[in-house]
Amino acid sequence: MTAEDDDDIEALLRCGRAVAEARDTMLAAAVAGVSTAELDDVGREVLTRHGARSAPQLAYDFPGTTCISVNHDVAHGIPSAGVVLADGDLVNIDVSAELDGYWTDTGASVAVGDPDELTRRLLTATVEAQAAGMAVARAGKPVRHIGRAVERRARRDGFGIIANLCGHGVGRFIHEEPSVPNTVELLNRSILHEGLVIAIEPFLTDGATFATEADDGWTLTTPAGTRVAQFEHTIVVRDGDPIVVTR
Ligand code: CO
Ligand code: CO
Repeated sequence: MTAEDDDDIEALLRCGRAVAEARDTMLAAAVAGVSTAELDDVGREVLTRHGARSAPQLAYDFPGTTCISVNHDVAHGIPSAGVVLADGDLVNIDVSAELDGYWTDTGASVAVGDPDELTRRLLTATVEAQAAGMAVARAGKPVRHIGRAVERRARRDGFGIIANLCGHGVGRFIHEEPSVPNTVELLNRSILHEGLVIAIEPFLTDGATFATEADDGWTLTTPAGTRVAQFEHTIVVRDGDPIVVTR
């Protein structure tokens, strides 16, 4: 969507606060011994308190409130009582919701227990790649500059990018135009404009650069042993710094 006025911005910020609080509460609860179903309960409680509804449930009938993906599963993981977190796991928590007709989307990865050196570097690089993408999201600039900035930051540490998972427009639905690739797409002519609401969400990896759908019909996965991290924010594009509504 394009945010037209202060009412749009205020409503996006309200929805953004709900998903950000759910994300941060879940991240804090991601410790060894907790199942991903229990983590999902934590997120549901926060969203409900804000009066927000789960976006994946509303839009796609997803069998969970949030998406929780562990280790080489990279996105759209189904919360499960059978998936119990252990030290050394790398967990991605993705929370998106609708509130008063406005939709926002956020995500973050976290290591359970003490991360090893590679995981620590991957998490830092992914946070910084996501921030680098937001930093070049300016009205009048090409969408492809985001992928260029993300990819540059990833390569600096020798990491790759899951090329078939992209950011996207958001605001009046969970997935809107334009697609926001995380890799350089020289032929992409799409231009950012004032008020455009987008989610920027790079997936950095130490191995596979393509995610495939698992047998459950939801989970996007990579070969066992692959380390993948994602961070995501919903932003409103401006002439200057964007408004990050999911901070
Ligand atoms: Co998203
Ligand atoms: Co998301």
